[in-house]
Amino acid sequence: MNALTEKVSLSKEVDMENFWMPFTANKQFKAAPRILKSAKGMYFTTIDDKKVLDASSGLWCVNAGHGREEIIEAVHKQMMELDYAPPFQMAHPVAFEAAKAIAAVMPAGLDRIFFANSGSEAVDTALKIALAYHRARGDGQRTRLIGRERGYSGVGFGGISVGGILANRKAYSGALIPGVDHISHTHNLAEMAFSKGQPAWGAHLADDLERLCALHDPSTIAAVIVEPVAGSTGVLVPPQGYLQRLREICTKHGILLIFDEVITGFGRLGKATASELLGVTPDIITMAKAMNNAAIPMSGVAASRHVHDAIVNAGPGTAIEFFHGYTYSAHPAAAAACLATQEIYRKEKLFDRSFSLAPKFEKEIHALRGEPFVKDIRNLGLMGAVELESRDGAPGARAYDVFLKCLEKGVLARFTGDIMAFSPPLIVSEGQIEEIFSTVRKALHETA
Ligand SMILES: Cc1ncc(COP(=O)(O)O)c(C=O)c1O
Repeated sequence: MNALTEKVSLSKEVDMENFWMPFTANKQFKAAPRILKSAKGMYFTTIDDKKVLDASSGLWCVNAGHGREEIIEAVHKQMMELDYAPPFQMAHPVAFEAAKAIAAVMPAGLDRIFFANSGSEAVDTALKIALAYHRARGDGQRTRLIGRERGYSGVGFGGISVGGILANRKAYSGALIPGVDHISHTHNLAEMAFSKGQPAWGAHLADDLERLCALHDPSTIAAVIVEPVAGSTGVLVPPQGYLQRLREICTKHGILLIFDEVITGFGRLGKATASELLGVTPDIITMAKAMNNAAIPMSGVAASRHVHDAIVNAGPGTAIEFFHGYTYSAHPAAAAACLATQEIYRKEKLFDRSFSLAPKFEKEIHALRGEPFVKDIRNLGLMGAVELESRDGAPGARAYDVFLKCLEKGVLARFTGDIMAFSPPLIVSEGQIEEIFSTVRKALHETA
């Protein structure tokens, strides 16, 4: 036993000095840490043995619930048989099987699957695919990438460049990739506050892409990337008709449309993809989080055949067609977890379950209307947000307090700025949905 495990197991105290925590207020956290030690089903257990209901699927990723034995066994078996195989110029069977399983739930035609290890890598991969596609077709002047304000597409330089969250860009602003522009976000409380599901107002916001086409000329634009429902910025649900309009404009101008479905994929909205639910098919989909229930890091990009074929058929048969990939692309353990997870989704019909629970989720989250500080509520599928009035001069402080109070009361939610976000595993029960929002109600009443 090394010193750290000894210390943890004997005194339940963790030496926190060395771990520089991601997206965390390190000093604040280490002064009053929140440490989870185990998880099963819908619950985490904290280091002091408190059960906590997971209202956020970890980080929007544990869609089949925690500690799924089928996944653990599949990973164990795979590791015993083949712990690693190089993915460049070599392969192993599970990589192909996992790609097939993913292709089976993607929209028709988006069935060429590239594997990576995080949502950020999936986004970088998708952006590179878009550039490579145009170049392979002799359209190499199309280098401009368009993202959206308030968008979150991970933390790679590609992702923060097309992303639109100020805090993620500010410190790196001099090094963002050039030739990127942004369409406006779709958040407008005056027109859409307390919408249930997709707001009726706002399809015309997609026309902002025409503005950028007029400014840059569409022949310079390679791709537009948007989250179908913007997640990390606080669950911004696309207005009815908005994504259809984006699709039309992209098609008209020969621009590739990328949906970043890192959050919305694999049943979060009641279908395999937001694309399927909302009836809009992009050219490329990025995925990660729930792909293998977050058991092992894994992400992917689904490319439509026309995009894949343009790149792969461009060169001679002996040349590498796409100079991109990761040491851990299609890692055997991740691929085995992916196969086992997809089988759970299929067998337990978890996407249908999510679809049928969505009205209950909508009813309970919208019942918070009128509670202290609530200025908007938004939802789609099993994804929702409650936006709070900010305290004067202290943005984010109120939601942080609500988050802490919920945790004290046994519910783990997320907060971003002054927005509380909810995304329980798809195995959540109706009673647990009630428990989540009644806990939030109590927390709001106890918060100043
Ligand atoms: C839409 C979207 N894209 C990309 C990412 C980045 O994923 P990762 O944190 O795995 O790099 C996220 C993470 O939250 C996301 O929500």
